[in-house]
Amino acid sequence: MSTFEAVVLWVLLICADLSDGVKFPPGFLFGSATASYQVEGAWNVSDKGENTWDRLVHSNPDAIKNRDNGDVACDSYHNWRDDVKIASDLGLHFYRFSISWARLLPTGLPDRISEDGKNYYNNLIDGLLEKGIQPLITLYHWDLPQRLQDLGGWTNPLIVEWFADYARVAYTLYADRVKGWITINEPVIVCDFVYNSGIIAPPIKDPGFANYLCTKFLLLAHAKAWRIYDKEFKPKYNGKVGITNHLIWMEPFSNEYEELTENLRHYLAGLYSHPIYTKDGGWPPEIEKIIAENSKRQGYPRSRLPAFTQEEIDFIKGTYDFYGFNFYTSRLVRKARDGETLSNWPLENGCPELSAAMEVHPSWKKTESDWFWINPVGIRKMLGWLKKTYGDMEIFILENGLATKDYNLNDEDRIKYYRDHLEQIWLAITEDGVNVTRYTAWTLVDNFEWIFGYSVKFGLYEVDFEDPKRKRTPRASAKYYKEVIRTHSFDV
Ligand code: NOJ
Repeated sequence: MSTFEAVVLWVLLICADLSDGVKFPPGFLFGSATASYQVEGAWNVSDKGENTWDRLVHSNPDAIKNRDNGDVACDSYHNWRDDVKIASDLGLHFYRFSISWARLLPTGLPDRISEDGKNYYNNLIDGLLEKGIQPLITLYHWDLPQRLQDLGGWTNPLIVEWFADYARVAYTLYADRVKGWITINEPVIVCDFVYNSGIIAPPIKDPGFANYLCTKFLLLAHAKAWRIYDKEFKPKYNGKVGITNHLIWMEPFSNEYEELTENLRHYLAGLYSHPIYTKDGGWPPEIEKIIAENSKRQGYPRSRLPAFTQEEIDFIKGTYDFYGFNFYTSRLVRKARDGETLSNWPLENGCPELSAAMEVHPSWKKTESDWFWINPVGIRKMLGWLKKTYGDMEIFILENGLATKDYNLNDEDRIKYYRDHLEQIWLAITEDGVNVTRYTAWTLVDNFEWIFGYSVKFGLYEVDFEDPKRKRTPRASAKYYKEVIRTHSFDV
């Protein structure tokens, strides 16, 4: 071998080594996600029932930036073949989408199953499977049938039955082909944004009370849906069911706020995790104590956080096949100053229950969403905290992505966001031994970003909302993600 050949061989070996070094474990799965109201459109097609988002955007259009709405959105109801095609072009291992409850059950209850609704999801599922993509279904991604909302929605204890009945219909129709299920997307947002701050549909504001009713009944609803699958469907189909949390990494603003910060983690993540993932179950004890003391001081005869019976604790405990979470951002935590007004919206500036105020680090870049600043190392710390706090579980990262503004196909910033987060996840797996097995890029296509309407873009694919066909065009990040999936590595 000549010296030249030896050098070339040496360089090749080093390169092979390096890329091998940053590979995700074999069996690690990459996917992307959307949600019914954000992409489907066809809000009143066929016998679909009205849901809380339909009601909000039609009754109070000014609640949404530019008076946008999801009436047509990406028209995925008609364009689902395009979604399947681009999911396949990307080489996705799985595609996470949600069922619109009122599309499948127009009355919200199982007295009537919509034929068109049923067929729509059947087509989507079969289309994905034909391309070798696993469907991963979210049962509830924020679009409650309006009829059920009129009866109190998540604050009515009967929601436990309503949700369980709906879940059983969905499992009965689709569990033969769908092996992955998420009961509820981001319970903290469902309960806080609706019943606390009232910034998403339906805008009900009853802070510090209704939100906790929601938390309790939502956990019971999740548990019931999990148990139905576990008992009636798992023996036959062997799929996995879990809930997915919205987690924000909390750092103390300075050392003196260590304890406050840990409490806040147990508040935001813990209210929805302690009951499910710990040996004892029930509310996180320190949070239960704080809310009880606050309630007493405020003159309530009992805690605003409704108690669980032992039977309920046992019913919720252990209802998971994985720990699911969505991750976008981090916050710094400090004690609120005397007289400082705190919003009831944890993503904004604080948590009144704990008198905790939130800041962001000057080095974290703000995204185009007012909710998110970028701190990739936060996801590794979050994963470490989950393992330390709840033990060694299989973890699915079910959303992660960057908000940008422009119709920009050359989205280098999104590539960097994905790359940097994937690197931190890879470090969590390889250095910290966290058992993460799935990563989900939010989102496949630009879509209706709730109160921000279409002004904020998260898509791997740009959608032309002027085009009646809602043409989808890959951004540079789609090409990057495709390579990530092909090579199983973030350094591509
Ligand atoms: C989480 C929500 O699940 C999703 O619907 C939303 O679009 C993203 N966050 C981005 O804000």
